[in-house]
This record gives sequence, structure tokens and C-alpha cells, in this order.
Amino acid sequence: MDKPELLVVGILPDWDLAPLAERFTLRKLYEAPDPRAFLAEHGPNIRGIATKGELGADAAMIAACPKLEVIACYGVGVDAIDLAAARARGIPVTNTPDVLTEEVADLAFALLLATARAIPEADRYVRSGDWAAKGPMRLATRVWGKRLGIVGLGRIGQAIARRAEGFRMPVSYSGRTRRDVTYAYYPTPAALAPQVDILIVSAAGGAATRGLVDRAAIEALPPGAIFVNVSRGTVVDEAALLDALRSGRIAAAGLDVYLNEPNIDPAFSTFPNVVLSPHNASATVETRKDMGALMRANLEAHFAGRPVLTPVG
Ligand code: 8YV
Repeated sequence: MDKPELLVVGILPDWDLAPLAERFTLRKLYEAPDPRAFLAEHGPNIRGIATKGELGADAAMIAACPKLEVIACYGVGVDAIDLAAARARGIPVTNTPDVLTEEVADLAFALLLATARAIPEADRYVRSGDWAAKGPMRLATRVWGKRLGIVGLGRIGQAIARRAEGFRMPVSYSGRTRRDVTYAYYPTPAALAPQVDILIVSAAGGAATRGLVDRAAIEALPPGAIFVNVSRGTVVDEAALLDALRSGRIAAAGLDVYLNEPNIDPAFSTFPNVVLSPHNASATVETRKDMGALMRANLEAHFAGRPVLTPVG
């Protein structure tokens, strides 16, 4: 029997591609010199899409695949998938929740420690010989015990809060809903910001959270605050963030996500007090293997006639 055709939107590790190729005929969009022509040629036979958080599947891609039955996302964020277009055709969409939660929370803390304790700068200080030539490096900023604000106390936000407890940090948060937790709740990032020394953004992306961390929130941070974003660039008013870095109001920022990835605003690279990471929060071998396995299990379930494991919505 012919294998179902699967559109693979972005590159995946070989440990996922090999088992996928046994089960499906793979149509690799990321290798196509002309993606539109590729979609026009193969779209009519595509029955499944395997995509990634940052690449998604827009209305044009979905429309180009009239026999499409399922969209499986390698990532938890589905903001780049046109969910309404999928829903209108009854196409289930799956993601990879839970398996990446602790990993993303780890990177949020890694970025926080890297910025506050100036770890990239310290590394350069030793390598360059400045330590021997100039003596002790400048003093850094304490993390433990500082007031932490979390924008979005979902699965990832809660994992960040658990880590903060180990650092004896009082935690408060903002979000659409007040949760059954002991942390202080503020309805908006602008209300939360003046109450914290460190703000970590972990809200889901998408239309509902576009610009959620607005200029008012960024300007309400106390002078010397540290800012970390591991969610999506769209959640933050990036122009306001850059202004706050230029004015020195924010002491440091640790960023994993941006607008226009991977062609981010070059201004970010000009700040010595900003630590940049290339949308890597889930990028460990262990977690990427778990994400790939869950994405493949969702596809397998669908094509075996079973309900998908982790449907979105
Ligand atoms: C991945 C992500 O970087 O889960 C998400 O929403 O953005 C990430 O885990 C991505 O989906 C893999 O390319």
C-alpha cells in the first residue's frame, strides 16, 4: 500500500526523519528552492503536515493541501499555525506540551543567571587576559532573594516559579486567569512590573498576547530591573524594550525569542548587558527526542485511526 505523503516544513533530526520515512513519503519543504512551486506540485497529495513552533502552517499552506488530515507541531506553541483554517476543515492540530516544560524553565534561569552574574562577560574577561592585566572584574548583580515576576503562569511559568523557590525569590505573576497558587496576582504586566526586580515572560504567543508586555509595563519596571523572554517575540513591545536598554532603565536582558527570527533587530547585538540565545529553550538532545517522539506518536495515532494524543484546543 502507498505510504501517506507528509509535508515536512522544517528540518528535523535524523532520529525523527528516519522513522518518519519508514511510515510516510516525506516531502521536505525546507529543501525546496521554490517553496510555492513545491507546494503547488506536492500539496494535492499531502495528507499530513509535520511543522515546528516557529514555522507553523499558514492558511495558504493548508489550502494548498486539499487532502490534508492532520497537522503535527514539533513544539508547544502553535501561534504560527492558522488554527481557524484547520478547524474550518475539521483538521486536528497537535503540539508537544509537557515534554519541554522543565527545559524551557531551565533556559529562563540560565539566561537570568547569565545576565545578572555577567557570565558571558566574565568568560571574555578571563580568555582575553583582562583578569591578569586589569585585576578583578566589575561586580555583578544578585539573583537569589530578588522579587521575580512571571508573565504567564502556565505550565512553563509554574516550572520557572518552582525554580525561583529554590532561589528563595518571592514570586508574583500576571495572566489572564488568577490561579490557585500562593503567589501574588496582578491582572496585567504593567501592574506586575513595579512590584518586581526581575521579569520573566513565559506567556503563549498568538493574537491574544501580541504586545502584552507593552511600553507601559516596560517603563513601570524599577530602574535596574532584569528582563528575560522565553516565550515569543510578539508578546513584547520590542521597540519599548530596546528604548529601555538604550536608556539604561533595564540593567540587563536575556532573550531567547525575538520578532523576525532569525533576522533579529541588529540593535540587540550592540548591548554588552544583553545575553542572546537563538530560540533554543527546548534545544537539548533529551527534550528534542521527547518532542520528536510525541509528534510522531500523534501522526501514528491519526493514521492508525486512533484519536491523536495531544490535540490543541
Ligand atoms: C521549538 C518552540 O524551538 O515549543 C515551542 O513553541 O518554540 C520550541 O520548542 C520549536 O518548535 C522547534 O523548532
